[in-house]
Amino acid sequence: MSAAKRAVQLVPSILSADFGCLERELAAAAAAGADRFQVDIMDGHFVPNISMGPMFVAATRRFTTLPIETHLMVSRPEQWVTSCAQAGANVIIVHAEATVHLHSLLASIRKAGAQPAVALNPDSPLALIEEALDQVALVLLMTVEPGFGGQAFISSVLPKIARLRQVLDARGLVCDIEVDGGIEPSTIAEARAAGANIFVAGSAVFGHPQGATAGVNTLRAALG
Ligand code: DX5
Repeated sequence: MSAAKRAVQLVPSILSADFGCLERELAAAAAAGADRFQVDIMDGHFVPNISMGPMFVAATRRFTTLPIETHLMVSRPEQWVTSCAQAGANVIIVHAEATVHLHSLLASIRKAGAQPAVALNPDSPLALIEEALDQVALVLLMTVEPGFGGQAFISSVLPKIARLRQVLDARGLVCDIEVDGGIEPSTIAEARAAGANIFVAGSAVFGHPQGATAGVNTLRAALG
């Protein structure tokens, strides 16, 4: 199903939220029309930052009824699948670069009761995931090097987004393309035009000077 037909979704990343008032931040983003939330789990090894663990998935679960996707930026993703699913993750995103057993890792996510998804860093080739495209509901193409919010969008990923959309459509696969990193009003439209339909945004939402409501509304407006 082409990008034009796949529903557009906005996914605030809680990495940029004020953890001291997480419930209020999530409520504001949800009321403004966020479709789901992303919880970024980082181990300080796969990425040069340590962020949060499955407890933040559980906290987010307590504060919202929206779907939660957990982005595992960790070297041993297989260690975290069950705890994230039990904490309430609806989608679990693992990096193809973090495993040599992608097939069984994706199967373990399904077995844990969550939807499997796979991510690629900006310079990782689509060839890493071509054999797994029929096993995932979503492919996340990172538009920054993972580890931190507030980075600049890497526009050289745009052709990769377009190529992936062509591959998915040619194979008749129903699969969302999500982008994550540097998504803001000035970049979201070109990512959409390239073929993405799900947009993760941290600083553009929770770092917006007028708050999360304005952040979500501004991104929606930029999508037209
Ligand atoms: C980065 C995370 C992203 C990040 C996005 O490693 O995976 O989800 O929170 O932040 P922004 O939208 O500020 O680039």
